[in-house]
Amino acid sequence: MCGIVAYIGGKDAAPILLEGLARLEYRGYDSAGVAVTGKTGGLKLVKKKGRVADLAAAVPARFKGTAGIGHTRWATHGEPSDANSHPHLDTAQRFAVVHNGIIENAEELRAKLESEGVVFVSETDTEVLAHLIAAHAKDAAELEDAVRAALARVVGTYGIAVLDAERPDRIVVARNGSPIVLGIGEKEMFAASDVSALVRYTRQVVHLDDGELATVRADGFSTFTQDARVTAKQPSTVDWEEASYDTAGHAHFLIKEISEQPAAVERTLSGRVDERFATAHLGGLNLDAREARAFRRVKILGCGSAYYSGELGAQLIEELARIPAHAEPASEFRYRNPVIEADTLYIAVSQSGETYDTLAAVQEIKRKGGRVLGVVNTVGSAIARECDGGVYLHAGPEISVASTKAFTSTAVAFALIALHFGRVHDLSPADGRRICAGLKALPGQIREILAQEGSIAKLAAEYAQNAGMMFVGRVRGWPVAREGAQKLKEVSYVHAEAYPASELKHGPLALIGPELPTVAVVPDDELVEKNLTTLGEIRARHGRVLMVGHTAPDPKYAEDCILVPKNEPELDPILLGIPLQLLAYHAAVALERDVDKPRNLAKSVTVE
Ligand code: AGP
Repeated sequence: MCGIVAYIGGKDAAPILLEGLARLEYRGYDSAGVAVTGKTGGLKLVKKKGRVADLAAAVPARFKGTAGIGHTRWATHGEPSDANSHPHLDTAQRFAVVHNGIIENAEELRAKLESEGVVFVSETDTEVLAHLIAAHAKDAAELEDAVRAALARVVGTYGIAVLDAERPDRIVVARNGSPIVLGIGEKEMFAASDVSALVRYTRQVVHLDDGELATVRADGFSTFTQDARVTAKQPSTVDWEEASYDTAGHAHFLIKEISEQPAAVERTLSGRVDERFATAHLGGLNLDAREARAFRRVKILGCGSAYYSGELGAQLIEELARIPAHAEPASEFRYRNPVIEADTLYIAVSQSGETYDTLAAVQEIKRKGGRVLGVVNTVGSAIARECDGGVYLHAGPEISVASTKAFTSTAVAFALIALHFGRVHDLSPADGRRICAGLKALPGQIREILAQEGSIAKLAAEYAQNAGMMFVGRVRGWPVAREGAQKLKEVSYVHAEAYPASELKHGPLALIGPELPTVAVVPDDELVEKNLTTLGEIRARHGRVLMVGHTAPDPKYAEDCILVPKNEPELDPILLGIPLQLLAYHAAVALERDVDKPRNLAKSVTVE
């Protein structure tokens, strides 16, 4: 999705803005632009359809200014073009605006402004904001007042940064549904839509809340609300390393992040496995044992892979804690006027912590008085702040659009939650110890799976030649199969469909034939014989089968197999998912796809 970066201080703004925009490239975009101003007055602007590198090449040497804003645009209103790129200016070219989000009443505002004589030069909703700010600046004492007055007329979501050629000492930013984070430097300040644009310069950050604005100056910042009430904000420290934002010698971020999973899982587990009491320490849940016992149900909400990891989490909670648990797509939840129950614990899952649909689901639950925990990777993100407590993944930044290490760390976090709830319910100390030992074995076992990358790559190159693939699994294997299909279609564009293995004979078996291979997730559990029977039915119809499991199958069930080390049955799904990530990655490489930035997708979906 779109990205914003802003700088004000003693240095030349343009190189800092371009560097920041390059850091935001992973989010997906189709055009980019920068505007700067300085003591000499006037705005300088360059914007272009294409990559940040094209923009950098177009910025002239004399593009000087110590305050500036930059943007990477993902087209919503109007095609990708130079004119539609941000920043957008008012007619007098005094104000420059960059914007993430969608102004829902843009057409109405545009018509009104046009009737007043304003001539628009783009098709975007954002240009409306530039002209509105200019209109209100006529009566406003300060830039901040003009921005507030303009935003008061806007319906929709926004993260914005506004530059004023007549006030080069400040940049005004605002947030409503689209993230804005301030970065505090030495006699310089930054703002961005994502901390990844800031970590090269500072670790001290301030997250704006929805409905909040900020003025940033070289020597500090102030925050206030839409009705001009001053707010107090405490900076927090970002602990992610700058190196996490480089591929570090890997061909893509995706394979780097797959390879980082042993360390990511170690961090998710760090300090949380309590072997003495055979439980998990999760202080961030903000629930004492009595409260944890009181919940009768668990509802998990997330989108895409976060939803599938929630399905895995629901399975773990039911198995270990014997509390009925269910996962649902957060994107659907609020539209069915959900019944919020006092004795249900709600858990929102999000890597970015900024997914609009998940945030809106959390807000709906809270509005109705429900209790929501977050399982979130990004510290200080909107979802993390909105929840009543939760578990941070500590998986490190995930840059590739396809989620891998966050998916696995989320499953591990759910295993910890399930263990914790299990031990305040009826999970025996012996079973608790068994799960603790299993959790501690995970990083080493993930390393063993990663060591099979070469053979999985060969299989991937062969299977990628098919137009589609079926993924099947049962019970513990079912969320793994769903996520495996999601990963494959997302990065390789090979059509992939996931079905519970038990459902095949109720319809999709009609699709099976030599041209549609099946990837089957078959853990060595009480369903293994039933799973193998299904594979036999597929083979009888000449369907090729790649089995991911624990024991090499008879060739009459599967031509190919990937074996993973065995853990405890409840934790096995966490490991079974790893080969499917490698399969998807190498299929995408074999098909020469844009692995880290698949077409039509963005890393975090901050709009509806
Ligand atoms: C994962 O591979 C996808 N890119 C996508 O489904 C993602 O998991 C989803 O958009 C939710 O993102 P979040 O975890 O940041 O909320």
